[in-house]
Amino acid sequence: MIKFSQEQLVKVQEIIDRYPEGKQKSALIPLLHMAQDEFGGWLDAPVMDYVAEILHILPIEVYEVATFYSMFNTHPVGKHVLEVCRTGPCMLNGSDDIIEHIKQKLDIKEGQTTADGLFTLKPAECLGACGYAPMMQLGKYFKEHLTKEKVDALIDELTAQSKN
Ligand code: FES
Repeated sequence: MIKFSQEQLVKVQEIIDRYPEGKQKSALIPLLHMAQDEFGGWLDAPVMDYVAEILHILPIEVYEVATFYSMFNTHPVGKHVLEVCRTGPCMLNGSDDIIEHIKQKLDIKEGQTTADGLFTLKPAECLGACGYAPMMQLGKYFKEHLTKEKVDALIDELTAQSKN
């Protein structure tokens, strides 16, 4: 059943209370982050409907936001989502090669997840770290000045961690 824990519901109310009466929709993005973390790393329709119900807004208002922002996943993803920026500055500094390298190393295409469920490759638009190009977002972290060697080390480290 899709439901936040009692503890999480207290947090949900705290977030909603940050906004003026009648403006509870402003809590949508933080609630979507909570929902994504809690319900398997992605937002399916029942989860988005649940968030809409909490905020007393229409499900379509939630779908619009969840599908607009790349940090929300509307399809199942792997444990680690490699969001490689491919906008101008990153592209000029080799992001295409990085993406191609990841595709070959993990044997997946863009948007796909490895068979073991560990990695999803998700090309992204500018993540606001152009000075560190080429870069990717990995969960809450930015990995900057990427090279193929750095990508290999990162993937190998995450793979090893998953076996412990
Ligand atoms: Fe890649 Fe801005 S272009 S972070």
